[in-house]
Amino acid sequence: MADPKVGFYGHVRQYHDLKDEIDRAIHDVLESGSYVLGPQLTEFERELARYMNLQEAVGLNSGTDALVLAFLALGFGPGDEIITTSNTFFATAEAIWLAGGTPVLIDSESKTHNIDVKKLQAAITPKTRAIVPVHLYGLPADMPAIAKIAKAHGLSVIEDCAQGIGARGDNFAIGEHSDVVCLSFIIQKNLGCFGDGGAVATNNAELAAQIRKLRNHGSVKRSHHSIGYNSRLDDLHAAVLRVKLRKVDEWSAKRRAFARIYDAAFANSPLRLPYTPAEYEHVYHLYVIECDDRDGLQAHLAAHGITALTHYPIAIHQQEGFPWGRPVRVHPQSVTEKSAASVLSLPMYPELTREEIDAVCRETLAWCASAGARTVPTR
Ligand SMILES: Cc1ncc(COP(=O)(O)O)c(C=O)c1O
Repeated sequence: MADPKVGFYGHVRQYHDLKDEIDRAIHDVLESGSYVLGPQLTEFERELARYMNLQEAVGLNSGTDALVLAFLALGFGPGDEIITTSNTFFATAEAIWLAGGTPVLIDSESKTHNIDVKKLQAAITPKTRAIVPVHLYGLPADMPAIAKIAKAHGLSVIEDCAQGIGARGDNFAIGEHSDVVCLSFIIQKNLGCFGDGGAVATNNAELAAQIRKLRNHGSVKRSHHSIGYNSRLDDLHAAVLRVKLRKVDEWSAKRRAFARIYDAAFANSPLRLPYTPAEYEHVYHLYVIECDDRDGLQAHLAAHGITALTHYPIAIHQQEGFPWGRPVRVHPQSVTEKSAASVLSLPMYPELTREEIDAVCRETLAWCASAGARTVPTR
């Protein structure tokens, strides 16, 4: 039997699964005539805040803007250092630059891939204002430890939760140990709209009010402006997100079940598998393995119709032109650099079929067997 083609994203299937509800939601918005700052956005914000177990949510037009507006609302600007992890999507650092601050990039931790909390203390200077942990691949960073250090130094904590909606720590929730949580709803995220979208969620009503103002040209009252941005989440997106938010926990459970299948299949292979600390609830935005000949495995999978991608193959500080004339401090990056060379994300989305998952397992193991002699275990 020929291998099925296994794509990397499931959002068209997801649309088909929810077609009636989504089509109705979009139709209702179109007929309502309220497309910007309308009732769907208000309802979505209420439902998202409730889902996050936080008081307020503010819909924005991207996860990048969620970070930028959170930094600006917290009053950060030129000269302020904001510590984050080097192992993240570019936007985390970019948002710090866009707000006028100085990103301080510290290494990631080799098992979790998240910010290495042991390296935080040494990166703090009198100019440090905040820490931005990223819940990379859907695994929460060690928030209690980060909050403890932040508190001791009077720093803010902004969670980059673009990849982690629905995840939990062992005895903590996302949003419990920070000032604000930043979310992305770009289509491929665990909760994705049909395009770009984002939000912040927080218990700080003043901060939420400030971000509401910033997203709308510095205005809360018609024709009364101060300087802000145009960064509102459209009602069409909000209506779609309301439908999908009701499904997100069910989808996370499926992602975890698929991860268990991959884990079991690869348990005796030389691949290094995702690690989840005890009692954490990973939401597997990505299922990321490590392999010394990552490019070889990726090419083998592609030859068998399976798309595997890399997150992230070029670390931020190794990108061409870095740092583009902007201020930055880069701490030693041996773990992130090793990750960049070895990570491979296998297909992971709730709409995968068992046949597709089996094909990914079969071809990955076939490659391991054929490449076994030259693959040095990375565990
Ligand atoms: C970790 C991380 N931070 C920030 C962002 C930026 O989000 P957006 O693409 O919605 O601007 C993304 C995703 O795209 C991300 O993965």
